[in-house]
Amino acid sequence: MRLAESRILIVGLGLIGGSLAAALRASGHEGSVLGCDPDESELALGIEKGLIDGGDTRLAPLVEGASLIVLAVPVLAMVSVMRELAGCLDRAAKHVVITDVGSTKGAIRDGAIAAFGKLPPRLVLGHPIAGSEKSGVAAANPRLFARHKVILTPDATTDRDALARVYRLWQACGAEVLEMSVEHHDQVLAHTSHLPHLLAFSLVDTLARQDDRLEIFRYAAGGFRDFTRIAGSDPGMWRDIFIANREAVLASLDDFEVGVARLRHAVEAGDGDAMLAIFDRASHARHYFESLLNQTSYQAEYQMQHDGKRRYRVSPGGSVEGRIRVPGDKSISHRSIMLGALAEGVTEIKGFLEGEDSLATLQAFREMGVAIEGPHQGRVNVHGVGMHGLKAPSGPLYVGNAGTAMRLFAGLLTGQAFATELTGDVSLTKRPMGRVADPLRLMGAEIDTAEGGRPPLHIHGGKALEGIDYAMPMASAQVKSCLLLAGMYAEGETRVREPAPTRDHTERMLSGFGYPVQRDGDTCWLVGGGTLTAAPIDVPSDISSATFFLVAAAITPGSDLVLEHVGINPTRIGVINILQSMGADLTLSNEHEVGGEPVADLHIRHAPLKGIEIPVDQVPLAIDEFPALFIAAANAEGTTRLRGAEELRVKESDRLAAMADGLTALGVETTLHPDGIDIVGGEYGGGRIDSQGDHRIAMAFTVAALRAGGEILIDDCANVATSFPGFVDLARRVGLSLLEEPSDEEGA
Ligand code: S3P
Repeated sequence: MRLAESRILIVGLGLIGGSLAAALRASGHEGSVLGCDPDESELALGIEKGLIDGGDTRLAPLVEGASLIVLAVPVLAMVSVMRELAGCLDRAAKHVVITDVGSTKGAIRDGAIAAFGKLPPRLVLGHPIAGSEKSGVAAANPRLFARHKVILTPDATTDRDALARVYRLWQACGAEVLEMSVEHHDQVLAHTSHLPHLLAFSLVDTLARQDDRLEIFRYAAGGFRDFTRIAGSDPGMWRDIFIANREAVLASLDDFEVGVARLRHAVEAGDGDAMLAIFDRASHARHYFESLLNQTSYQAEYQMQHDGKRRYRVSPGGSVEGRIRVPGDKSISHRSIMLGALAEGVTEIKGFLEGEDSLATLQAFREMGVAIEGPHQGRVNVHGVGMHGLKAPSGPLYVGNAGTAMRLFAGLLTGQAFATELTGDVSLTKRPMGRVADPLRLMGAEIDTAEGGRPPLHIHGGKALEGIDYAMPMASAQVKSCLLLAGMYAEGETRVREPAPTRDHTERMLSGFGYPVQRDGDTCWLVGGGTLTAAPIDVPSDISSATFFLVAAAITPGSDLVLEHVGINPTRIGVINILQSMGADLTLSNEHEVGGEPVADLHIRHAPLKGIEIPVDQVPLAIDEFPALFIAAANAEGTTRLRGAEELRVKESDRLAAMADGLTALGVETTLHPDGIDIVGGEYGGGRIDSQGDHRIAMAFTVAALRAGGEILIDDCANVATSFPGFVDLARRVGLSLLEEPSDEEGA
């Protein structure tokens, strides 16, 4: 970005002033840059380094002809410089714009009013959030502001043209410019910058007074070194800042003292859980808040993929062979954290799915004060706080792409004494939440949703709940689970009737945690007021993730694959039943039970498939498996018909439409129905697929490529990490030719 300023005058040629000059030079700024500094040697060095065209120790001779003046002197020197400027400004051009770089804004605004008589409209107060422990023009760095934030604090009287010019000044240096009020700025900076500096100065000074200080500094390790680095900052500058921002700093210090007292108490009492909760929350805070701010994800690797938009390029051919284990079950992983958090005692989890969705649940409990160790290679320890031990989170709970988390949380949080807000990513924000909010309201909950019953959800909390007898209008395990979780906090019995059997992990796990759940036919119920006792959980591999490889092997000649330790809960085995009905060579072995859930090894070999009418009673039992099953159908002889599956329209995408579009793009004949689809099997070609950010659509078409006539390119695949981290590697390992690459906008 080119600047139109003819002459920029920088008053104060220290690190910030010098770096600004350097950044302007580096940006290709063509106008002149002059410096004013009481120290002649700084000016000489600035000229020698080519940062400024000239300079003077006096202000008056430099002001005339300047189009933009940047005050980069220490905060407490600002007033006298502004007074001097006021004296010589009459002679300067009317359009001169003034800005500053001071780290506190209230005191500088007051000083400006004192110096100029009122706040000049063409004075734009600003603060680049950048610095270094080094000082002076010798340390000038042209990249100091690149990708850093610059906060401007204009008010209603600020001239818009002047504001726009200061924006351009900083943008030319590569900075991101934003605005806030003077007061807000001073509060935010007190928390994020001034308090940490105060603590560093104080800690290092305190330790430097100890008798054994030589030992302390000799053996200073990582953490303390960071404190000493911060304490190495310019003392005079920081004295000025603490004088100028006194009130906000003191308020921030008060908050801190409360926090230290809390931790002191925990240490004194030897309260390991309290310590762990504080440390754990703190150690994940940065990642969590960055995810929340960017509305993205938890894992660095996923973040990178998400920002850059990833796509898959899959070549046809090959076969699928080997012995693999897919990651842990998503539904069970969510529930293990939820029940573990509310239990008495420590819940030890093995096989936890380290995918974005279940990590969102885990992180949300950290936000509510639960100490959670891990995950480390699928192992997580949840230090339960009991049914009433959750603490109010300090902001909205962000659950990313996870519909299960949002719906189950809605029930669980309804039972808490505090209010909460649940938010999610763009896809989740489009999904219906009325299905849980409506029955929860019948129980006495107060919940606000956005238009059309969509997220965010505001749950008022603190309401007395009463059990209900609820016949679900749709077969949904999420709704059932939500109501059972709320039911634990309700007076009397909460009964849920399901129109067709849905996954029963919640009921099984509740029983495993000693909370009685009854069932009679299509209805299950529990009585409120019970407690949960921690129990170990071994999460089986997710049959929904295994499905992609089952279909891959089923459709590809020469394939022979074993999937180990897969969960075969009877409410989840629709895919096994359907594939077997289609003629798949699929057998189960090593059947046993882990922690209340049945598991088996699944052995699949290629065999010709035939199209079938999918029995309606299998639909809820295979609800997440249809994208992959549609690929099986496209490879079967004859037509496969699915009905009674309107729920597919409200998953992470409208899966009926997304799959029909993709199949059509490959040349497969389909007929879409409101509640299903007909797919005519046969040969198909390559093509380009829009996964619509839906993990299961992306993985289904990856598998389709094995039998395609040409390459398949699948856009928007980063969300595969929500349910199946490591999918690409595993797919390659069994024989798929899959490349993951950054997307371009145009195409292949
Ligand atoms: C789930 C239930 C199903 C399923 C989802 C996970 C669960 O949703 O599609 O992936 O963990 O309870 P519905 O309850 O909306 O059918």
